[in-house]
Amino acid sequence: MNNPSNKFIKDTILKLLGAIGSEKEINKYIEKFSSPEQRFAVIKVGGSVIENDLENLISSLVFLNQVGLKPVILHGAGPMLSKALEDKNIDFSFIDGQRVTSIEVRDVAYSVFSKTNKKIVDSLEAQGANAKSVTSDVFECVMDNADLGYVGSIQSVNHQLINEILESDSIPVIAPIGFQDKEILNINADIATVELVKAINPYKAIFLSDTGGIFNQRGQLIPNINLALEYDELMQQEWLHSGMKLKLEQIKSLLDFLPKTASVSITEPINLPKELFTDSGSGTLIKHGYSVLQYQLTEKDVQKQFTNIIEKSFGGKLVDDFFENPNDLDIFMTTCKRASIAISNDFKIPYMDKFGVIPEAKGEGLGAGIWHEMRKVYPQVFWRSRANNPINNFYMSICEGCQKQDEWHIFWIGISDYSALKDCIEYAVNKPKSVI
Ligand code: ARG
Repeated sequence: MNNPSNKFIKDTILKLLGAIGSEKEINKYIEKFSSPEQRFAVIKVGGSVIENDLENLISSLVFLNQVGLKPVILHGAGPMLSKALEDKNIDFSFIDGQRVTSIEVRDVAYSVFSKTNKKIVDSLEAQGANAKSVTSDVFECVMDNADLGYVGSIQSVNHQLINEILESDSIPVIAPIGFQDKEILNINADIATVELVKAINPYKAIFLSDTGGIFNQRGQLIPNINLALEYDELMQQEWLHSGMKLKLEQIKSLLDFLPKTASVSITEPINLPKELFTDSGSGTLIKHGYSVLQYQLTEKDVQKQFTNIIEKSFGGKLVDDFFENPNDLDIFMTTCKRASIAISNDFKIPYMDKFGVIPEAKGEGLGAGIWHEMRKVYPQVFWRSRANNPINNFYMSICEGCQKQDEWHIFWIGISDYSALKDCIEYAVNKPKSVI
């Protein structure tokens, strides 16, 4: 972070993001995303975003450009294509989300994709970013489904061309157009994105949409999805509509293919900087994830791993007698050994004595994943946190009740009996410190 261009990057980010993230957090992500070992990101931009939110899209992309990050953009144009076909009185239909493409539809698609592509490139250039239009030569295809017509099934991706554009310091803006010899073919933009991501192997795949994430049955944004723990459960939910299920299935196939450090974010253009440069983000972050194991604390190496996680998370030392009554303790730990929860059972209601995620792993959704698993075992639990602890926002979002006192905030779930609650609060407030 010492050369002058890094200083410029840092200053720009701090100026723009100062209000939404801490300097430490932001620096962490700049370093991650600028790594020479892995490309930064492939960003899929839905057609309706271009139609309805072009201005925010362009500012967010220009912002990334200003801080020296070059994403690869792939865009759709579905709604514009449907409209153009309607205007020309050309009928169209879909099979499993893919547009049946006659030669007439194909020709209109080509012209709409090219126009949309130019609009993005021109808008980026007007704001001073170098962008390069790519409407051919990337997706080598075959036409292998007679029912779909002129739709390409991708055989190979010319990533060399994309790398050349990135190396010449331009942002490649790619249209979902394939080719087979000299024939031009239509490709579904989500499918093209999946293949592109597999070819480029970036740190992040980002889907920019109007809605900006995946929502639960109460209409609340789901901030993190850990596929190893939640995929099967989510796919069975009635409230998740079929389009989202399809998307999740595609995302899973992507993340199964990519290294475990990779992630997918779904967000809206205006929230892209916050999603990228803060731990809590703004959108839905999907990771391959890790499983969570539950231990009784009798094994020495589990004690050691637990101590390591807690000491790194809290920046202190775990008291020597913490494991004095190991039979009362129940430990949850991710298989990557970077997040852990300890539940103490020496009171009438289970007490969450420790909840730690090591600093380098913040923002990966490990905390939410391990919390989810612990809750399946403990529907009733209470805990405390220092009044000034930044994690309290997260605790507020997961607790069912909270009492704020000067030194401690006490949180709980599943406890409705008032006198039991009073005892819990008293127990929590008087509990001696376990990290010093
Ligand atoms: N900034 C990090 C990233 O882009 C973390 C994002 C967290 N986002 C979320 N929706 N939970 O990988």
